[in-house]
Amino acid sequence: MRQVNIMMRIFVLLAIAIGFSQCSSTKKEKSTSEAPAFNLEEAQNLMTTNCFACHGPAEPGKRIAPPMANVRMHYLEGDISREDFVKHVSTFVTQPAVEKSKMPGAIEKFNLMPAMGFSEEMISKIALAIYETPEDSPIWNRFPSAHEDQDQTPLEKGRQMALSTKTQLGKNLMGAIKSKGTLGAVKFCNVRALPLTDSMATVHNAAITRVSDKPRNSGNQANQTELKHIETFKQMVATGMEMKPIMEEANGKVDFYMPILTNNMCLQCHGAPEEQILPTTIARLDSLYPGDKARGYGENEVRGIWSIHWEEETAP
Ligand code: HEC
Ligand code: HEC
Repeated sequence: MRQVNIMMRIFVLLAIAIGFSQCSSTKKEKSTSEAPAFNLEEAQNLMTTNCFACHGPAEPGKRIAPPMANVRMHYLEGDISREDFVKHVSTFVTQPAVEKSKMPGAIEKFNLMPAMGFSEEMISKIALAIYETPEDSPIWNRFPSAHEDQDQTPLEKGRQMALSTKTQLGKNLMGAIKSKGTLGAVKFCNVRALPLTDSMATVHNAAITRVSDKPRNSGNQANQTELKHIETFKQMVATGMEMKPIMEEANGKVDFYMPILTNNMCLQCHGAPEEQILPTTIARLDSLYPGDKARGYGENEVRGIWSIHWEEETAP
């Protein structure tokens, strides 16, 4: 009992002391101990650099994600406070999930946004920028240019190229399966058919390929280095490790590798023949891809990798 009383007293004294010291401290001292003040322009740059590969301006037919101004509008619905706005956006971006969505139609149309592993601090800055940027601002129409991207680390660049390509591919594939069925969608799993010209690949002068140890199209056969990395990723899956991209930098050249995992949707074309791949699909695949090795996969297996290569621009 006595001990509790003493503890209580110490606590009260401490509270008073802290209270006083805060009152007497000058404003300047206070601001140095807190997070640096929010800078809208800096946060807007973070937004265009990190989000506009997918959410940036694009012709309606070429969109791979809803324009950010639309996202903003949906999240503003219902007289939401600034804090709640930031909270809702941050919660979704940290780990996108159907249950958290305020735009289920967008998931239908574009596929769920991939998780990107941004820091909490960066996400809340960006969320605030989305909130604070007015509806009619020209920022919404800004292209993520090479200049702004200099703030991005090579790892971020590689990841973003892989993810935006994947998003584009996923959107095309889902759309095709819905409108044409599995059979008609067969040619939509081809990355070379993607219009990568107006995306980040041009900005970074990058070569993006998708290769496999068991390719369907023999042109997608992984080379020795790539095979080695595929093995590493397979081990990561087997041991339940967190999947991290592999990056190698030498003489201004960057080599970036990121795993491609299967999900349930893939199995109608890459799963067990007859059971999951329908006979009609098998017949089509046989005629288009003699020597197809990409069958018999289950869920959450390494189907291949993104292999991305570019040269770092030297900063001026
Ligand atoms: C690789 C492409 C890609 C990148 C990069 C990307 N997004 Fe998305 N995002 C999508 C797609 C696709 C959707 C639509 C499907 C969905 O809602 O999940 C989306 C939807 C959203 C939504 C609405 C979610 C909902 O359904 O309610 C928010 C909020 C969002 N993105 C925020 C961001 C922010 C902030 C960034 C940058 C830090 C970002 N996104 C970067 C692809 C991307
Ligand atoms: C509608 C059928 C279909 C679906 C669904 C499908 N694919 Fe494919 N996939 C193909 C075809 C056809 C190719 C060969 C494309 C080419 O010629 O480059 C291919 C090629 C690939 C390749 C390149 C290596 C190779 O085997 O040539 C990868 C990696 C891949 N698919 C992964 C996936 C993943 C992951 C999914 C699910 C998210 C998926 N695919 C869903 C039909 C499909």
